[in-house]
Amino acid sequence: MTTTKPAALPANPRFSSGPCAKPPTWSLEALSDAPVGRSHRAAIGKKKLKEAIDLTREVLGVPADYRIGIVPASDTGAVEMALWSLLGARPVEMLAWESFGEGWVTDVVKQLKLDAEIKKAPYGQIVDFATVDFDKDVVFTWNGTTSGVRLPSGDAIPADRAGLTICDATSAAFAQDLAWDKLDVVTFSWQKVLGGEGGHGVLILSPRAVERLESYTPAWPLPKIFRLTSKGKLIEGIFVGETINTPSMLCVEDYIFALNWAKSVGGFTGLQARADANSQAIFDFCATRDWIDNLAEDAATRSNTSVCLKFTNPAIKDGAAFAKGVAKRLEAEGAALDAASYRDAPAGLRVWCGATVETADVAAMLPWLEWAYQAELAAQA
Ligand SMILES: Cc1ncc(COP(=O)(O)O)c(C=O)c1O
Repeated sequence: MTTTKPAALPANPRFSSGPCAKPPTWSLEALSDAPVGRSHRAAIGKKKLKEAIDLTREVLGVPADYRIGIVPASDTGAVEMALWSLLGARPVEMLAWESFGEGWVTDVVKQLKLDAEIKKAPYGQIVDFATVDFDKDVVFTWNGTTSGVRLPSGDAIPADRAGLTICDATSAAFAQDLAWDKLDVVTFSWQKVLGGEGGHGVLILSPRAVERLESYTPAWPLPKIFRLTSKGKLIEGIFVGETINTPSMLCVEDYIFALNWAKSVGGFTGLQARADANSQAIFDFCATRDWIDNLAEDAATRSNTSVCLKFTNPAIKDGAAFAKGVAKRLEAEGAALDAASYRDAPAGLRVWCGATVETADVAAMLPWLEWAYQAELAAQA
């Protein structure tokens, strides 16, 4: 039983799942080269936006024939742009295993009113991809941020599918191996694994997705910020930095800084190794305690970014109040900020382990978690 407070705090207690911790070398100085007060359509603005796109391709290893665009409204904007622009041409399957995936189901069924087949798994589990018909268009979230359950690989997705795969990868990109040849649309925002800012989305399109855009016009109206084509042709400018509307050049500069930091730690492989080491520290902690466990039931599906934890001691009386109490103690001590589970998820904790988090900070936080758990248990009694 640990009842005394640990001696040392994490140097950086930011464990939020979005916006996530900034890169360890970040300071406001990192933005000093931003072309503020200049037009994003001036040569300097376009150069910065193109640089952000080129670095994204380099760090993520995006195939040369895939388009990368910076779009409005963060990851949600990128996903909804894809749903509204591409769906309706053929039957649709919607896969969900936590709240964000469920949000896309609502979009497609209630707003677009498509008669989609819906496959859902409860928190902690994942949809069985062997049951999915990839001749339909399939929409899913690679890493369920609110359940900490991820797709282990793209192996179950056939390379010769007839449908498109539309993947919300916002909490997976830069930390998990996205199977590019199995994905036709990939979206993310800058605020997750790279610790960038919210507000801007990235939309990546395979040649097959572009072919769909150029051969199919949805039955419903598209607002200007969703429009990817003009007169039946892809607006190529979007994919070289001619954004649909005005981006924040401060945020673009911040993203470029994060991408260069990513390169300095070994690019994608280095980022993934950092997330793996962070999450492993938590997995090891749970493995040696009988009161806490990963929400993800199958170890192969455990997220290395949004690690979701549940308290398993049957002596806990009110699970939701208990988990909130632990998170509150961690926050009050400055040991872990924003570590409560998502509002729609089962009671517990969610500790961000993405690449910008330092493993030493995870290691320094864990004794505090033990202390907060014991303190809450004592308070309950
Ligand atoms: C899986 C997933 N999809 C979508 C979103 C929404 O992202 P944004 O707020 O960047 O639009 C989040 C945010 O946490 C997320 O985790």
